[in-house]
Amino acid sequence: MIEGTISRSVQVDLRESWWIGPVEIPTRLVLAPMAGVSVQAFRRQGRRYGAGLVCSEMVSCAGLEHRNERTLGYLRVGRDEHPLAIQIFGSEPRVMADAARMVVAAGADIVDINFGCPVRKVTKTGAGATLLDDPERACAIVGAVADAVDVPVSVKMRRGLDNGSRACLQVGPRLVEAGAATLTLHPRSARQMSTGEADHSLTAELVELVDVPVIASGDVISRARAQSVLATTGAAAVMVGRGAQGNPWALREIVDGDGAEPSREEVAAELILFIRETVRELGEHRASGFLKKFYGWYLGRGRFPRPFKQEIVQLETTDEVVTRLFAAAPGAASIVERLEAELPDPTDEILLDSMPISIYGGG
Ligand SMILES: Cc1cc2nc3c(=O)[nH]c(=O)nc-3n(C[C@H](O)[C@H](O)[C@H](O)COP(=O)(O)O)c2cc1C
Repeated sequence: MIEGTISRSVQVDLRESWWIGPVEIPTRLVLAPMAGVSVQAFRRQGRRYGAGLVCSEMVSCAGLEHRNERTLGYLRVGRDEHPLAIQIFGSEPRVMADAARMVVAAGADIVDINFGCPVRKVTKTGAGATLLDDPERACAIVGAVADAVDVPVSVKMRRGLDNGSRACLQVGPRLVEAGAATLTLHPRSARQMSTGEADHSLTAELVELVDVPVIASGDVISRARAQSVLATTGAAAVMVGRGAQGNPWALREIVDGDGAEPSREEVAAELILFIRETVRELGEHRASGFLKKFYGWYLGRGRFPRPFKQEIVQLETTDEVVTRLFAAAPGAASIVERLEAELPDPTDEILLDSMPISIYGGG
C-alpha cells in the first residue's frame, strides 16, 4: 500500500509517448470527444497545442448504417489529425461492427465505443451509459467491433448509472477480456450528467484491475491537476474536455507548463481560423449557429470587453464576425496567414465511396 503510494508520487512526464496497441500516442494528454464541439477544427487545434490523441464526437451507428448525410460528415479526417479515434454509439453488435469498418475506412486509427452518454435520446435506444447495466450486451458489442477491425478498440464509460455506482469496476475488466485495448473512465454516474465531481479514486481502482492503459477523464483543467491525477491513479493519460473549449492554451499549459496568457491577437487569430475551418466543414448555414457558443468561450475570460462579445454573438454571418475580429485585433492577420499556410490541402482527405459528394467542399 505504502509502496504503491510512493511509486505513484513520481511525476509523470506529459510529453512522454505511450501506446494503445500498435498506435503510438505522443503525449499523455487526450482531447475529449464532445458532441457539438469536437469538429475537425477543434481536433486539429488540439493536436497543435499538445494533445497526443484526439477523438471525434460520438457518431450514431444507425446513422452510418442508413448512410445519413450528416452522420457521414463526421467521418471527415484530415491528414494532420492522426492519431485519431472516431467514437461510435449504438446497441446492436452487428450494426456497431459495420460502423466500425466504415470509420476505419475513413481513416480512424482507433475505434472508440461510447458506454457513457447519459442523454435520454441515446439511452432509450439501449446505447450509451445504459450498457453498463447490461454487461453481456456491452461485451458482445466490444467483441463484434474488435473482430471487425484490425485497429485497437477503446471504450469510454462512466462509473455506472446511479450515484455511487461502481459498475465500471465489474464491467471494465470484462470489456478488456472482450477485446478493448484501452478504457477511458469518466467517474461520474450517468445520473450526475456533468454535476458534482469526478471521483478519480475509482480510476485508481480500475487501473489496478486491468492490464491495458486507462485514460482518466473529468475535471482536468490544469497541469497541476493533470500531474496529480496521473500520479494518484496510475492512469496512462488524462483526457481534457470542457477545459479546452475556446482555450487551446490550457492544453499547452498542461503538456508543457507554459501558462502564458494568449494576446488578443492570438485569441482573435485562433478564433478566425476556427471559424473558417468550421464553415468549410459544416457550411455557412450550420456553422453560423454552431459557432455562437465558441465566441463566448474564446472572447470571455477577460480577454475582450463584455460588450464586444455581445456584439459578436449578435452578428448574422461568419464573414461579419471575421471582419469585426480583424478590426479589433489587426495584428491577427499575419498569425492567421501563418496558421493557414500550415494546414494540409483539404482535397487530401480520404473519400469513402459511400459518402455523398455534397459533404465535401464546404457543404
Ligand atoms: C458538450 C459536451 C459533449 C460531450 N459529448 C461526448 C461525446 O460525444 N462522447 C463522450 O464519450 N463523451 C462526451 N462528453 C463527455 C466528455 O468527453 C468528458 O468525459 C466530460 O466532459 C468530463 O471531462 P471534462 O471535465 O474534462 O469536461 C461530452 C461532454 C460535454 C461537456
